[in-house]
Amino acid sequence: MQIFIDSGNLDKIKQLNDLGVIDGVTTNPTLVSKENKPFRQLIKEICQIVDGPVSAETVSPDFEGIMKEAVELSRIHKNVIVKIVNTPQGLKAVKECTRKGIRTNVTLTFSAMQALLAAKAGATYVSPFVGRLDDINEDGMQLIRDIKQIYSNYGFSTKILVASVRSIDHVLESAKIGADVATCPAEIIEKMFLHPLTDAGIKRFLDD
Ligand code: G3P
Repeated sequence: MQIFIDSGNLDKIKQLNDLGVIDGVTTNPTLVSKENKPFRQLIKEICQIVDGPVSAETVSPDFEGIMKEAVELSRIHKNVIVKIVNTPQGLKAVKECTRKGIRTNVTLTFSAMQALLAAKAGATYVSPFVGRLDDINEDGMQLIRDIKQIYSNYGFSTKILVASVRSIDHVLESAKIGADVATCPAEIIEKMFLHPLTDAGIKRFLDD
């Protein structure tokens, strides 16, 4: 399973990329708004750090606006993946991007039916938000199982990119289900390295 960092913070991205554990990056307007940098400049700098897919989100609600943004974003760097919201206008744009060879990530996906439509539009990635489903007392990971089954049934090539990851358990379950990618905040990736018995073992070896 690939691990992407869900962040717009250049220091954190660089720090974890240097450890060799990052396969790509996802951003969203909220994450970008926390950084003091113009959006496109930020995406360009992220692409210079990480040699992998970097998702950059469009914000227009209509097909024409999304397509204009998609073309501009895809010109920033060959690794840019255009993130498009899972709406009827958004999926129309995904289909057009697919035709033009622009790779896409269909975001704010909360149901298996939305994921099926994203795959049929030719999305490169679909981003189901597991944490936000858990927040409203639904089962985020069950959505990943359902999408995995549907995509396997029909041989869709759209990759399942688990988003809104809030815990190590979300990452563990994603790997067990066979999701293609989990995009994680830096704190979650940092926790993946840790086990108290590793620390205790190091101490004992050093003491001895
Ligand atoms: O990038 C999209 C997603 O990962 C956001 O997560 O925690 O704001 O629901 P969260």
